[in-house]
This record gives sequence, structure tokens and C-alpha cells, in this order.
Amino acid sequence: MGLTIAQKIIREHLVSGTMEPGQEIALRIDQTLTQDATGTMAYLEFETMGIPRVRTELSVAYVDHNTLQSGFMNADDHRFIQSAARKFGLKFSRPGNGICHQVHLERFGKPGKTLIGSDSHTPTGGGIGMLAIGAGGLDVAVAMGGGAYYVTMPKMYKVNLTGALRPMVTAKDASLELLRQLSVKGGVGAVVEWGGPGVATLSVPERATITNMGAEVGATTSIFPSDDVTRAFLAAEGRPEDFTALASDEDAVYDKVIDIDLSTLTPMIACPHSPDNVVKVGDIAGTKVDQVCIGSCTNSSLYDMLKVAALLKGRTIDSSVSLSISPGSKQVLTMLADCGALSDILASGARVLECACGPCIGMGFSPNSGGVSLRTFNRNFEGRSGTADGRVYLVSPETAVAAALNGVITDPMTLGEMPEVTMPDAFKIDDSAILEPATPEEAGDVEIIRGPNIKEFPAGEPVDDDFAAPLVLKVGDNITTDHIMPAGARILPYRSNIPHLSQFCFEVCDKTFPERAKSAGRSVIVGGDNYGQGSSREHAALVPLYLGVRVVIAKSFARIHAANLINAGIMPLTFADPADYDKLSQGDRLKLSGILKGLDSGEILLQDGNDEIRLTCSFTDRQKKILMAGGLLKYVAGEAE
Ligand code: F3S
Repeated sequence: MGLTIAQKIIREHLVSGTMEPGQEIALRIDQTLTQDATGTMAYLEFETMGIPRVRTELSVAYVDHNTLQSGFMNADDHRFIQSAARKFGLKFSRPGNGICHQVHLERFGKPGKTLIGSDSHTPTGGGIGMLAIGAGGLDVAVAMGGGAYYVTMPKMYKVNLTGALRPMVTAKDASLELLRQLSVKGGVGAVVEWGGPGVATLSVPERATITNMGAEVGATTSIFPSDDVTRAFLAAEGRPEDFTALASDEDAVYDKVIDIDLSTLTPMIACPHSPDNVVKVGDIAGTKVDQVCIGSCTNSSLYDMLKVAALLKGRTIDSSVSLSISPGSKQVLTMLADCGALSDILASGARVLECACGPCIGMGFSPNSGGVSLRTFNRNFEGRSGTADGRVYLVSPETAVAAALNGVITDPMTLGEMPEVTMPDAFKIDDSAILEPATPEEAGDVEIIRGPNIKEFPAGEPVDDDFAAPLVLKVGDNITTDHIMPAGARILPYRSNIPHLSQFCFEVCDKTFPERAKSAGRSVIVGGDNYGQGSSREHAALVPLYLGVRVVIAKSFARIHAANLINAGIMPLTFADPADYDKLSQGDRLKLSGILKGLDSGEILLQDGNDEIRLTCSFTDRQKKILMAGGLLKYVAGEAE
């Protein structure tokens, strides 16, 4: 039987396990990346493991999330990461150099390699044929130390592309169409491979937009073949030697095939507050817009920016709209400046922001209260913009420009001809903002710089056979990591200070939760379907751990968050019968018994007053050991002894 692209890369990197969907496999990891919001914690964890240098082929520490320095906190964290990278043998991408996924694609990604990153949009690397997976910081720390990455062997889905995109219809619209069809849960447990004759019509930046948005269908990752288009991209980046051809076998077998004819797509839009709440732009045309943001790791490539500049050229944005443009990297910004496109953007009335995540993470450009914000980003969860009642819509750069010009949601196909955009054959290479690590000989003398904002992370406890604790919080379906641990300028500077962060835990759902959880000592949270969807933010596990949460019971969990909970030492358990969710009420005193046996049998009994409720779990042997050790760090430390 033939193999898919992902199966071929997995076979090459398999350390243990069998390639049966649903089974746990261990993968050798070639490359890692971290961003600063999760990286501080990952380097504290790496340091705790006591391994002197990273053992991967390449590890890069990026600073792109919290680049604003309106106090000592972010600046201190940047220095901490920079000094840790220098000591431990990582490259360090300075603040301002760009968004991790954009820069990694430009400068480091290689077809056929494995990459894990402490950011949920790491699958962007699938645009050049990497097996690139978002993971928790702890998993990344272990991979940096040369340990394998454990993941459930995914099913294989294929999106079969035919035709070609029409002008003003984009790769983003193809992503939104897939979200419309599959929903935010439709890709869980699967790798989505994009293939078919339509693939050859898509450039690497367009492919990367699609693999980036694949995180929103919940997929383990998404991947494209590595072909002549990939070869040309790597050559333009001055790295032709990094090219390897990659394709699935003719007789590869897929668990699901979805057909999309690119030529039939129209501009699409995801309405508040979920990326799968997708309709055609034309269906809601005329809706008043207050703010437009173009950028993020989804749509900030040179190709996107050149199209935006071409559409804005000679036009002025509507006086009621505020437009921000964040180029994805220093390379993109420099090339925009060199060719004059930046001047066209500025002349239109746009504000040009730093090459960083910025508004995507609620930093520096939040909408007005109750405002409508159109964004070329990948997520529109409630509160993520930094404005609690902001209404965020997700669109392509073309649709974003159309709205900025007209002040209302506008189908870009009504703008007239799309001006021709020519991509250069060679990009401008300047890696001066990527710092090299110290040599192994120098590393011993490098001091890690710690400001007062760097606090220790909480330690988990080994699970007991019996456990009794109050249900301190009951929440509904699709709780995101933004609900659990909000982002935004007020909070993110404290990402290495868990005690401070804990005051904001679940504040969108219930402001009194932190105090209640703290005074309960040990506690339980109950959630609905898809608990923990969204980012790879391990703070969404570490902060509840700090507040005493030891068990989360839900109808179902998002993949990365369930892994983060286990790594933190919190047990994620599911209802055997989802209807039992209704029997539990906040404040109930819950009792779990026979836990140790239940970890093996997959069934644990929960007592709530007179009700007996069956809970299930399907932990791998390694996950059981992690829970019994009190979290991944304690487990790894125990193994190393
Ligand atoms: Fe940054 Fe937003 Fe991407 S926070 S890494 S631009 S999803």
C-alpha cells in the first residue's frame, strides 16, 4: 500500500510505536521553535532538565508576541530568552525580525523535516512540506533535549484541489471554505494533505496560509507536497540546497477525501466568534466596519503585502475606518520599502505596525468598544482582540482592503480589476537580526539574565488512588485557551509570572473563579465539548494547576490542551455518557475512586452525592507515568536519575 506525504515523514522519524491511527507514536524531532509568550516557560523547563545544550539539528527562539515595552516586564523576558538561547545553543530572532512562522518559513524550514513549536500555528511549515506540529512548551523543551515527541498517530485526510483561484479569491478563502465544511473540530486526529492538480497553481505563501489555518479545523497538522513551486521559493530565499521533492504515492489511502474546485470559490468571511462561522462575504456586505487589520502569521507574506499595496495604490481609506498593516518579517518590510509599495500603503492612510503578532494577540491595536474589526488573522474568539465586546471577522487581504476603502464589508470582486502583482525571483536576505548561539566552549561563561518578572512555575502532584474535591467551575462547549488564560497587553507581559497571571484565569467566564479555586485547595473543573480549543498556550494548564485544579472533566478535549494538562499533572477525563454533564452542578463535592486501576482500565467512577457517573480516559503508558509522577518535568527528571 502506498504512503501519504505525512506517513513517509513519520516513517523516517519513527522512534517507537506503530503507524496505526489512534496509537501513540514517538517521533525524532529535527527542528524546534518557540515564541516569547510560551518560550520563557520552555527555557525555564529546559534549564530544569539540566541538559547543557540543545540536541536538535536546529532550534530557534523567536520574540514576536510581546514586543511592546511599556514597562520592564517584556524587556526582561526578551533578555532572559536571548541569554538562554545563547547559552543553550539556539538561534535567537530579535524582536522586530518578524513573526516566528513567517521567518521560519523564509529562513529555516526544510521539506521532509520534523518541526515542533510551542505555538499552535507551527503547521504553517507544512506549506513547504515539513511535518510541523504545534505542541506545549514542555514537549518542546523535551525535544530540545533530544527526547522524542509523543503524539497520536493521525488519520490521513486529503483535500483534492482542482482548478485555479479567480482574481480577488485567495488561499484564505479556500481555508475558510474548509472550515465551513469541517468546523473547528472536523480535522481533530488527522493530518490534512492538500493535493490534486490545483496545488501547482498555489505559491508557497498561499500554501502556508492554508496550512496555518489548518490549526483551526483542529488538525494535527496540514501539509503540501514539495515540488517545483517549493524549489523556486527556496532558491529565492538563497537556500536551493534545502530542497527535497516530496509527494504522496499514487496508491496512498486516505480516511477522507474532500474535493474543492478553486475556480468555483468566492470570497468568504468568518463571523464572530468562531473561525468556522463562515458565510460568503456578499451575504453580509454593507455591515459597518470600524477597524481593519492586515497581517498575522496567516497573511503577512510579501505576496499578501504586495497585493494589498497594489489595491491601495492611489486610493484613500474611508475616514471612519482605522487600518493597520503588520508585515510578517523584516524581509517583507524591507522589500516593500525597496520597491516603493510601502509608500503606497502609507499614502492610503494606513498605520504600519511592527513586524510582530501585534493586534492578533490583542497588542497595541484593539478595536473600539463594541467595534467591528475585519482581520486577515486566523482566530476571532471572544475577547482575543483585547476588547471584550469587540466583534472580529476573519477575511482575506483583498476583502480587508475592500472594507477599509468603503467603510463597510464589501465583496472585493466589486472593486474592479485586480492589479497585476509580480513576485521577485530573489528575496532580500539579511539575517543580521538572527543572533547565533555561543560556541559550546563559550557557553559555560554565559550568564542567564533573570529580571524580577521571572518566577518559578508550579509543580504538579502525583495522582492518588482516591480524590475528593469541589467542582469549582462548570463551563460550556468550545471553551478556548483564551477563555482559560486570556491574552492581551494587560496580561501577556506576565507570562513568566504564574502567580500574577492566576488573577485573570477564566475572567471572561467567571471573575470570582481564581479566589474560589485558591480557597478550595484542590479542585475540579467541568467543561463541555472541545474543551481547550485554540492555542498551544500551556499557561492554560499551568495557571489552573497553580490554583489547585487537579482534574478537568469534559465531554471532549482539544488535542494540544489535553496533552498540556497531562504534562502539567492535571487529569483530563471524559464523560462516558455526555448526558451526565447535566447532572453536575458548580459547588458539588465530587469523589473519584479507584483512580490508579482506572488509568489502566480506562474507566474511573465519579460520585456526586447519590449519582454515580462513569468517566473514561485513554492514556498511553507514558501519559500514565507522567500523571503518576506529577507532571512531565518530574517524570523526565525521574527518568534521568
Ligand atoms: Fe502570532 Fe497570531 Fe500567529 S499571535 S503566531 S500572529 S496566531
